[in-house]
Amino acid sequence: MGHDLALVLGGQDRAFLACTRAELDICDLEAIEKVLARTQARVLFNCAAYTQVDKAESEGERAWQVNALAPGLLARACQAYDCRLIHISTDYVFDGQASTPYPEDAPTRPLGSYGQSKRAGEVAVLQSSDAHLVVRTAWLYGVGGSNFVRTILRLAKERERLRVVADQVGSPTWSYDLAVALVGLADGNAAGGIYHLTNSGVTSWYDFAVAIVEEAEALGEKDFRLGDIEPIATADYPTAAARPAYSVLATARAAQLLGAPLPQWRKGLRRMLAQLYEQEEKR
Ligand SMILES: NC(=O)c1ccc[n+]([C@@H]2O[C@H](COP(=O)([O-])OP(=O)(O)OC[C@H]3O[C@@H](n4cnc5c(N)ncnc54)[C@H](OP(=O)(O)O)[C@@H]3O)[C@@H](O)[C@H]2O)c1
Repeated sequence: MGHDLALVLGGQDRAFLACTRAELDICDLEAIEKVLARTQARVLFNCAAYTQVDKAESEGERAWQVNALAPGLLARACQAYDCRLIHISTDYVFDGQASTPYPEDAPTRPLGSYGQSKRAGEVAVLQSSDAHLVVRTAWLYGVGGSNFVRTILRLAKERERLRVVADQVGSPTWSYDLAVALVGLADGNAAGGIYHLTNSGVTSWYDFAVAIVEEAEALGEKDFRLGDIEPIATADYPTAAARPAYSVLATARAAQLLGAPLPQWRKGLRRMLAQLYEQEEKR
């Protein structure tokens, strides 16, 4: 997420500072205050998080520090420095038992340690100031970092068969599309509170995997060995952390402010893959 936000801000010729973990540990209040004092930033986007959903079950304390406590530090420091915090959160604050898209004010009930820590971070941010924003997104992927799309591309080269869960649905979201929208929310002076932002449309992990392979091949990918993707049930793929079966967020509130919803998920995927292959060609 941070990678694409920096790309979008850089492309728009904005004054911004993008910090790696080594440059700014969000668990370190003094470091946060130093950056805010030095930059006099008007907006701080927090893309940093502990994101290893399964590992969080055994590393609950670390997840809690980064996802629950650090957002509170950021929120209070931003308020003191008259800076607006735009904090990124997740669909995993919900239990996935719904059958229609979750609105911003739907009751939360995280299923695991990661979701619980993210929910506590949201509460800390919202309690610190009415001006701060919590933006929940879902199924995020991008050219930078490791994510589902890059994993499927790698596995399609290594394996002939893949099994992918078909009974969890959500809205795959390209971090670049999300970054453009986050900057739009900041520019549009969006009122404080919670916003849901994902690419439009709904799919399963299985159909997403099939689409990744199809779109990559349409862009000229010739190195896949993969013959078959088999749809399986969540019960056939046990993981340390339970995941919501239905992860669809209602995005009307943000869409109204931005003037339009984010593009359809498949369009986002196509553009992400085009960007990825273009970068690989340049290497
Ligand atoms: N990925 C998804 O599917 C998804 C879905 C919904 C919501 N989200 C949310 O979207 C946001 C961005 O996620 P992402 O997918 O871009 O995650 P990511 O690729 O795992 O990136 C998270 C970044 O946070 C950094 N970080 C971790 N602890 C830090 C600390 N104490 N101080 C400073 N930086 C720290 C990590 O640095 P290192 O590389 O050094 O560890 C990493 O660069 C997160 O809030 C996440 O909860 C993600």
